[in-house]
Amino acid sequence: MENEKNPENIIEIKNLTKNFITPSETLNVLRGIDFTIKRGEFVSIMGPSGSGKSTLLNIIGLLDSFNEGEYFLSGIDIKSLSFKDKRRIRLFKLGFIFQTFNLIQTLTVQQNVELPLALAKIPQRDQNEKSKKLLEKFGLNKKAKNFPYQLSIGEQQRVAISRALIMAPVLILLDEPTGNLDVKNSEKILDYLQNLRQFNTSILIVSHNPAVKRITDKNYILEEGVLKQLY
Ligand SMILES: Nc1ncnc2c1ncn2[C@@H]1O[C@H](COP(=O)(O)OP(=O)(O)OP(=O)(O)O)[C@@H](O)[C@H]1O
Ligand SMILES: [Mg+2]
Repeated sequence: MENEKNPENIIEIKNLTKNFITPSETLNVLRGIDFTIKRGEFVSIMGPSGSGKSTLLNIIGLLDSFNEGEYFLSGIDIKSLSFKDKRRIRLFKLGFIFQTFNLIQTLTVQQNVELPLALAKIPQRDQNEKSKKLLEKFGLNKKAKNFPYQLSIGEQQRVAISRALIMAPVLILLDEPTGNLDVKNSEKILDYLQNLRQFNTSILIVSHNPAVKRITDKNYILEEGVLKQLY
């Protein structure tokens, strides 16, 4: 048995299970997941609808609990953490990009991107400096004062990417990043994600779209509660 944590592993999951108990049945959604993500690695998880991809992503993102097994994030044993610790880790170590982006409609583009910094109580001047750089990088500087409804889908997605990046997370989690997009815009988003290599972050993409393999180092398939690496 290896008990030592490899410091290069951002995510280390062993024999993890997750059950949902519903009035009619107990669903064994994850049945013994073994999974690691190394620093800087781009990884995808594919699998049929209902196979548990979002469930696993939510567990990895500390948004949901699990039943059995082990989960270490940057060497930290998740089981030992309080609700408050988890919230802190989510803010400082993880970036999220959801299928529907979850932008705040009453905040401008710039305010959306700065939101994690505001939650972390970073001074406004530093917030502006950081958001300006990212908005420029993603071609959004002219849209900084716009509200989300005034943006195209692709632009909204770039705002979501900028917001996910602003705390320089160790891992970015993406659920169906190309789900709402046509082929051309999906390709554009994949190009933007490919550019995230320079930020030294790891990425976990959950998707139905086999095109994501173009930008990933490792690919897995989740089927009937079991995760297998694709070669
Ligand atoms: N809170 C919950 N309570 C009960 N069952 C749930 C809950 N969340 C998810 N499930 C069930 O767990 C299974 C896995 O759901 P999940 O959303 O993880 O699938 P998915 O692989 O992301 O699917 P999709 O590709 O359609 O997004 C499904 O059968 C779903 O109905
Ligand atoms: Mg899903």
